[in-house]
Amino acid sequence: MIPTVEWEHGAVKILDQSLLPEKVEVLVCHEYQSVVHAIQDLKVRGAPAIGVTAAMGLALGAQSIKASSFTEFQTAFQVMCDCMSSARPTAVNLFWAIDRMKRFVLERKDKPLEWIQQQVILEAQAILEEDIRMNQAIGDFGAALITDGQTILTHCNAGALATAGYGTALGVIRSAWKTKKGIRVIADETRPVLQGARLTAWELQQDGIPTTLITDNAAGSLMKQGRIHLCVVGADRIAANGDVANKIGTYSVAVLAKAHGIPFYVAAPSSTIDITMTSGEHIPIEQRSSTEVTTLYGRHPIAPEGIDVLNPAFDVTPAEYITGIITDHGVVVPHEIATIIA
Ligand code: MRU
Repeated sequence: MIPTVEWEHGAVKILDQSLLPEKVEVLVCHEYQSVVHAIQDLKVRGAPAIGVTAAMGLALGAQSIKASSFTEFQTAFQVMCDCMSSARPTAVNLFWAIDRMKRFVLERKDKPLEWIQQQVILEAQAILEEDIRMNQAIGDFGAALITDGQTILTHCNAGALATAGYGTALGVIRSAWKTKKGIRVIADETRPVLQGARLTAWELQQDGIPTTLITDNAAGSLMKQGRIHLCVVGADRIAANGDVANKIGTYSVAVLAKAHGIPFYVAAPSSTIDITMTSGEHIPIEQRSSTEVTTLYGRHPIAPEGIDVLNPAFDVTPAEYITGIITDHGVVVPHEIATIIA
């Protein structure tokens, strides 16, 4: 599969997810502002992928800084970090990656500027490689929770496309599939941007993992019929008490799962844990454009013009609905999530 994001010949290359599965196109960014726009426009999306891309974007920006002192360099770099921070509000991986890049620069303030400019590229690449390793660890821990013959429901896309590679929730599914467990995936289409239909179904089909696409509205009925045995989703931010922000509709799936006695797991790397948030109610929820709801692909209207619209991109699932959180350090019950950071 084409990498979600990569550094090549002094540019950041992003697989344009807004066009999938219709077109497979790579966007080449030569300026950090193009990277900010790519994140805003969902050309690259998914919490870990956003973090990795932001780090790459800052490395790109750093190359363009012409400074005669570290202070001048740092001031210009800070402007780029502020701009990057404004891209999207919910996925904490964005802020995690920006903070890490800022710290990296500051800790090298006594070094030559050209050397720092080279090193930030390596740091962004290290963040990318770590993300893949964390996902593989999540996959291995999560696969142990899945038994042969199970049908697993997932919401949105927490796959290779949402990360630097392998995926979190889909990493669990990939690892289970590799160990020859005869599993099947039910993918929620995930209105309004259809990450489930366009992206999850696409990447699982490429791997030959049996997948059935359903409308979001069908999940409850399938659970009632006993056709779903386990749910696994990704996360955009996990609060210290184990509440989880993820794609809008995740909360509904979790409530349905609890009502039907079905285990509901969240898979996420440690970079998604935000212990500064005591509970999920403090997590900022992105509100996106009404046209995502009133049109198909911004082209075909499906609602009357001028109708009032609410379009929260994420919701918060309280810890009590979550069976366990699968991290790169192991599986924990939600209220123990802070121990992963400790
Ligand atoms: O709006 P998106 O597509 O960025 O939302 C993505 C999700 O909600 C994912 O489930 C989450 O980021 C986890 S990705 C491993």
